[in-house]
Amino acid sequence: MNENEAIGIFDSGIGGVTVLKEILKLLPNEKYIYYSDSKNNPYGDKSDEEINNLCENIVEQFINQNCKVIVIACNTASAKSAKYLRKKYKNIPFIAIEPAYKMVYDYAYNEPTLVMATKGTIESEKFNLLYHTYDNHKTILLPCVGLADIIEEGNKHKIETYLEAHLEQYKGKVKNVVLGCTHYPLIKEEIKKVLGQVEFFNGAPYLAKHLKQVLEENDLICDKNEPSKIQFIDSSNDEQKKKRFFEIIKE
Ligand code: DGL
Repeated sequence: MNENEAIGIFDSGIGGVTVLKEILKLLPNEKYIYYSDSKNNPYGDKSDEEINNLCENIVEQFINQNCKVIVIACNTASAKSAKYLRKKYKNIPFIAIEPAYKMVYDYAYNEPTLVMATKGTIESEKFNLLYHTYDNHKTILLPCVGLADIIEEGNKHKIETYLEAHLEQYKGKVKNVVLGCTHYPLIKEEIKKVLGQVEFFNGAPYLAKHLKQVLEENDLICDKNEPSKIQFIDSSNDEQKKKRFFEIIKE
């Protein structure tokens, strides 16, 4: 048992907080180090090599801080770098998020579906494999270039304008929306305002279950009966991001 070792979790910014919130429901007694790489965001338009390098840098920091497991709370980084990181760092388990497209196959196969994700995720080999395995032939893939950025900025007006411009054409035409970027669960209400009643599919609750299972199997669960501790690190030391991050955690 590693009671004092933390779970490292990272994203290109504060979007991964939506993943951490799901994890906290299942693992409320752990120590967490959350790394927001806002200095280098967005990840969505970067090459595989650039993302590998950025992830490597974060992983090294987590390893130096003695983390027992690393959660990649960014779909883009998961799609592009999880394989590379697992190969390079064999002694630490990586838990990676992916767009919940298989869930659509399992629960709503026949319904028209919109997959929202970054350009990087949609173009990645990993996502394409998932998509072609579970394709329901009623799916629209929408690369949302720049959306994670304005969510990160927290500008409501810009978010609404973006969604009106990009989603209006799908109103009444889609039943399911895959939130394929960890920033997007933060704007579910705004998406509904444009698309009307839709069903959201998010990979985070599944990631949380998988993480718990991996910790149990490796005897890494912290069973001290103490509330979780969360350390927030932002690569550009943005105090505003820290504030927003903890506000969202408390919501
Ligand atoms: N939150 C990230 C994701 O899940 C990436 C957003 C970005 O930096 O482009 O893909």
